[in-house]
Amino acid sequence: MDKFRIIGSVPPKPLRGKIRISGSKNATLPLMTAALLTDQSIKFTNCPRLVDVFTLETLLNHHGVESFFDGNTMTLTASRIKDHCAPYELVRKMRASFLVLGPLLAREGKASVSLPGGCAIGSRPVDLHLMGFEKMGVTIDIDQGYINATAPEGGLHGAEIAFPTVSVGATENLLMAATLAKGTTKLVNAACEPEITDLARCLIKMGAKIEGVGTSILTIEGVEKLSGAIHPIIADRIETGSYAVAAAITGGEIELTNTSLDLLPTFKESLEATGTTLTPTKGGFIAKAPSGKIQPVDITTAPYPGYPTDLQAQFMALMTLAEGTSTITETIFENRFMHVPELNRMGANISTSGRTATIKGVDFLKGAEVMATDLRAPISLIMAGLTAEGETTLSRIYHLDRGYEDIENKIRGVGGNIERYKNGEAQNRERETETA
Ligand code: UD1
Repeated sequence: MDKFRIIGSVPPKPLRGKIRISGSKNATLPLMTAALLTDQSIKFTNCPRLVDVFTLETLLNHHGVESFFDGNTMTLTASRIKDHCAPYELVRKMRASFLVLGPLLAREGKASVSLPGGCAIGSRPVDLHLMGFEKMGVTIDIDQGYINATAPEGGLHGAEIAFPTVSVGATENLLMAATLAKGTTKLVNAACEPEITDLARCLIKMGAKIEGVGTSILTIEGVEKLSGAIHPIIADRIETGSYAVAAAITGGEIELTNTSLDLLPTFKESLEATGTTLTPTKGGFIAKAPSGKIQPVDITTAPYPGYPTDLQAQFMALMTLAEGTSTITETIFENRFMHVPELNRMGANISTSGRTATIKGVDFLKGAEVMATDLRAPISLIMAGLTAEGETTLSRIYHLDRGYEDIENKIRGVGGNIERYKNGEAQNRERETETA
């Protein structure tokens, strides 16, 4: 099983140079499932080559979708659906697989999808998805861990669906289903993450009628048929934010290209408050570390445009070296502080109480053996490792391969001392829970 060895120093070697940001993983996954809505080809450019993307490709192939990957361009064609069941073996690897439900119901009137189950960062139910489908007339039967869903005679019908809490996945699933439903669907308190806007834009290219894109109220007028499209996938804002933090924590200066600060409004404010300078460029921005000590900043995660939960661990790594005390409150997931004990193993001073972590800045961190615990958090351990005295070994890095394209080469390209190696240690990847 692969591991990363990171060699750090105190003071850290500043990371300097350029990093090209990849296409967004969280935009790619729902976009791929949207290919099920039409029998014509959809071509995605700027598509990241990630384990999660390949996992979903396998599931779509199972449903009958033909796929073709050429560099960072992926073409999907669902001429016909040959299997309506998304099996546990594929869904449990990645919960975004659940997004096949809406498109299959819309196009075929039926689907059987394994319940994703819990995961390391929380229980993550799918009740909001199901509540919405039921409002569109779907009959749902849960049997043997599978959701067997059947649309009414004549297909899905439009409905007004008000979400009691904001859910990215439920908004995406119902948005896709509504494009082919009869009549009008209104999604109220919808998530408005940039990845949803990207999905809506692609659906509109395919012929969908959607109003309110980018807001929390989406109104969708169902159409008879959708067609093919060519769609460039937006930049990965989580990868963007992660490398901006990498510049800040190492005292460096990194130009991030193929991205935009506009994707990260609250993160931008928070990072600037630490003393980091963020300067827009033509195709991205430059992140420059504070000239003095890193300033402590409190953050609270929230749905977009609030501070993203997927950038919480990275900010915590930065705060471990701040001049003073800061707090991080996690409001989206109930168990998203698994990186805290790992950072503390490196000499950080972090305590948690309920959903809030209190971070007392320390002068320096020390290398240690640490473990990746979920998909997004472990990059914070790499950053900590780059600033720590000595060597850090990070295990279970398959989590990182799910979400960060070409991670070690990007970090090495700006001067980070990180190396992937195999040591034959027995680790059972199959047993791991999946996250995010
Ligand atoms: C997506 C992202 C993930 C990100 C998260 C929040 C993808 C592939 N993943 O996950 O990286 O961390 O948004 O920004 O895009 N919930 C319910 N019932 C439901 C659905 C959700 O209670 O039916 C709860 C969840 O348990 C969680 C909260 O709502 O506490 C937000 O979840 P949601 O926005 O749905 O996240 P995902 O779409 O799973």
